[in-house]
Amino acid sequence: MSDNKSLFDKFEASAAIQKHLASSGLDPTHVVIDEILSATEGKIQGKTTILAGTNNYLGLTFNEDCIEAGRRSLLTQGTGTTGSRMANGSFDGHVALERELAEFYGTRHCMIFSTGYTANLGILSALLEPGDAVLLDADAHASLYDGCRMSGADVYRFKHNDVEALAKRLRRLGERAKRCLIITEGMYSILGDCAPLTEMVELKEKYGAYLFVDEAHSLGVFGETGRGVAEDLGLDDKIDFIVGTFSKSLGATGGYCVSNHEVLNLVRYASRPYIFTASPSPSVIATTREALRQLKNRPELREQLWNNAQHLYAGLKALNLHLGPDISPVVAVRMQDNEAALVGWKKLIEEGVYTNMIVPPASPDGSSFLRCSVSAAHTEAQIEKIIAAFRKISG
Ligand SMILES: Cc1ncc(COP(=O)(O)O)c(C=O)c1O
Repeated sequence: MSDNKSLFDKFEASAAIQKHLASSGLDPTHVVIDEILSATEGKIQGKTTILAGTNNYLGLTFNEDCIEAGRRSLLTQGTGTTGSRMANGSFDGHVALERELAEFYGTRHCMIFSTGYTANLGILSALLEPGDAVLLDADAHASLYDGCRMSGADVYRFKHNDVEALAKRLRRLGERAKRCLIITEGMYSILGDCAPLTEMVELKEKYGAYLFVDEAHSLGVFGETGRGVAEDLGLDDKIDFIVGTFSKSLGATGGYCVSNHEVLNLVRYASRPYIFTASPSPSVIATTREALRQLKNRPELREQLWNNAQHLYAGLKALNLHLGPDISPVVAVRMQDNEAALVGWKKLIEEGVYTNMIVPPASPDGSSFLRCSVSAAHTEAQIEKIIAAFRKISG
């Protein structure tokens, strides 16, 4: 080879970013929470800090029954499965959780994965192949992009939540529209806005396409029983594949897909991210099963979550901050640019409030945000403290 480039030259841009972030004190990409005090508080650099960027929507990470379920499982089933379900067998908890999730959604089938990320990779890479067409919302999560890419299918992006743009894409596909997969999320994770699922279902039915909805951030948040945006709009039985994660409202790690399509059982034989990775640890499955029970049996958690969301949204709106379009448990403040986001993020940390700094390429439309996610476990006083901290950076 003639060029003198080293294998590592491609990291020059990352090194510059890292240097810049480190030179200005605490680096938002390297925060260590030295002590977790509760679902909503931790110690960062020796200071008690409100955790306002966790996705712990129902606040179940310190729930006593979940912890007890995990503890019992550790004692009786050990620390890990040490292998994949296809090669090493399933633990009874894997099968039970699949049954319980299918019952919860009223679907015939469910498949669980070791993370939400691998759920998307595992389903999409098996379901699609080169020559298939995918219509993907432009703001979809990286795992949805990566799953499509892994499959080799033709991916056509449509403008975020734009039904007209989706219709145009479907028209252009002609005959291929009949076997194409439309991919969207329920509630989006940065701005907390929701997909127009009613119109999307109409379109998929008109063209005979399939609809895949990632409800990672909507489980436990939307719908009468907490199943997500599809339930909220009365559409569960119209969605071909619903995917979700255990890592947000359920306070654990893992992912799942539910569907009435028989093919979901066959995906197990074709899904490399399912076959070639260790299955979730039994204690993780045990805490997830208990958290799912709590999600089903304690609607008051969802009510409290929404009270807190409204409280925070109204408080930040009153400060004239630039917020997302809808009131939801994700409240994102749009900042002028990356530097303003960094300065604001640090000021909030000094005030004892941890938020998520979201900048390109992770952000929608190239903007910079300070993102809060509200929990049912936040107290009114904590929400007031978050608002007071934002007042300090509002101008
Ligand atoms: C929409 C969406 N899908 C999937 C994932 C991946 O989930 P997990 O973190 O459980 O792997 C995330 C995580 O942020 C997400 O926001």
